[in-house]
Amino acid sequence: MSESWVDKYRPRELKEVIGQSQALKAMLGWAEGWRKGKPKKPALLLYGAAGTGKTVATAALAREFGWDLIELNASDKRTLKIVQQVAGTAATTGTLFAGAGGKRLVVLDEADNVYGTTDRGGYRAIEELLKQTQNPVVLIANDQYAIPWKIRGICFAINFRRLTKDVIASVLQRICRAEHIEADPIALNVIAETVRGDLRSAINDLQTIAAGRKRLAIKDVVLYRRDREASIFDVLKQLVYAKGVREARELLWALDKAPDDALAWIDENIPRMFADPADRARAYDAISRADTFLGRARRRQAYGLWRYASDLMSAGVALSREGELKFVRFQPPSSGKYFGRTRSVRAVRDSAAKKIAARCHTSSKVARKNFLPYLHLIFKHDKKAASRIAAELELSDTEVNYLKSMR
Ligand SMILES: Nc1ncnc2c1ncn2[C@@H]1O[C@H](COP(=O)(O)OP(=O)(O)O)[C@@H](O)[C@H]1O
Ligand SMILES: [Mg+2]
Repeated sequence: MSESWVDKYRPRELKEVIGQSQALKAMLGWAEGWRKGKPKKPALLLYGAAGTGKTVATAALAREFGWDLIELNASDKRTLKIVQQVAGTAATTGTLFAGAGGKRLVVLDEADNVYGTTDRGGYRAIEELLKQTQNPVVLIANDQYAIPWKIRGICFAINFRRLTKDVIASVLQRICRAEHIEADPIALNVIAETVRGDLRSAINDLQTIAAGRKRLAIKDVVLYRRDREASIFDVLKQLVYAKGVREARELLWALDKAPDDALAWIDENIPRMFADPADRARAYDAISRADTFLGRARRRQAYGLWRYASDLMSAGVALSREGELKFVRFQPPSSGKYFGRTRSVRAVRDSAAKKIAARCHTSSKVARKNFLPYLHLIFKHDKKAASRIAAELELSDTEVNYLKSMR
């Protein structure tokens, strides 16, 4: 088992990219537009969860249109230099981006994690690049809202959805067949279920579990999962005994989870271990403040705030305890939390803000900042007015619920 299956079974052509037909159609339409000169939106912003095909679809698109692919990693300092140079000299021929003949597709991967974010130099350079480019550009990000709105405004945003369990299971099935592994379909379903729409993780899990096997049974998958969760539980358990901030911080690193996920695991398991209600209250307080910082970090693209969130969810929680511990059975976070709770709430908030903005002739940002809090009061206290406004703005039930219950 030398070659990674993720590479071995990577789609080369657009038609091999599965479960993303809407996104692919939009990408093709945009690329066609480039044939008639620089379109109004010279860049694509592909956003969505990891392992859903953003990078492979981009490469396949370039191949389909006969464009050279120039891949840059936005979080790399050297990339910023190149982008700055190009943005400054876009008109001159012979530079990397202004070559004669066929187009080049410039890909900025990890565009939500741009080098030089603190001084905003990175995003300014990208903005300049998008204004001046004579070539198609693709920005790739997990979180579209981590991209400054000025840049988002120049981009044609396309969402890559989390792949469904069935789609993922079918890919795993196909790989098993190619690898001559006889797999129980339920075993593959179990893998597919746990990866939250991330096909890359599913394929990696499959390769790890299937290593050296000709058959794959449910128990193989279950044992593998138990192993993995056991190590998470171990780290969580140690976190409870952390003596100082540094130790707690290091344990959080060892947890090896994205901040939102780490918070969900901690929220689910640690406060319940505290016997004393006062300890528990302090722990939940630290968790909720960590959550606030995470939300703020995301909204303002102020990723420095992650540090406060991390310290609050690790040391803040661990050091809340003065009293006894009690035994509890650890469990993975309840799915609502684990499935990117904050993100979907944010999506609802933004769709409501958009409707308000359109109606009140203002920007979504202003609507969000100035109107939502006010509407919240109305929706909470004045049922009649609320239903009139809801009808007027054509708000969905989810949006209405959001307005009623928002913090
Ligand atoms: N929609 C998809 N169709 C086929 N394979 C996919 C798809 N999404 C992900 N994969 C598999 O996962 C790997 C990673 O995909 P990638 O495009 O890098 O994901 P992303 O850029 O969205 O994180 C690919 O090499 C491929 O094996
Ligand atoms: Mg990628």
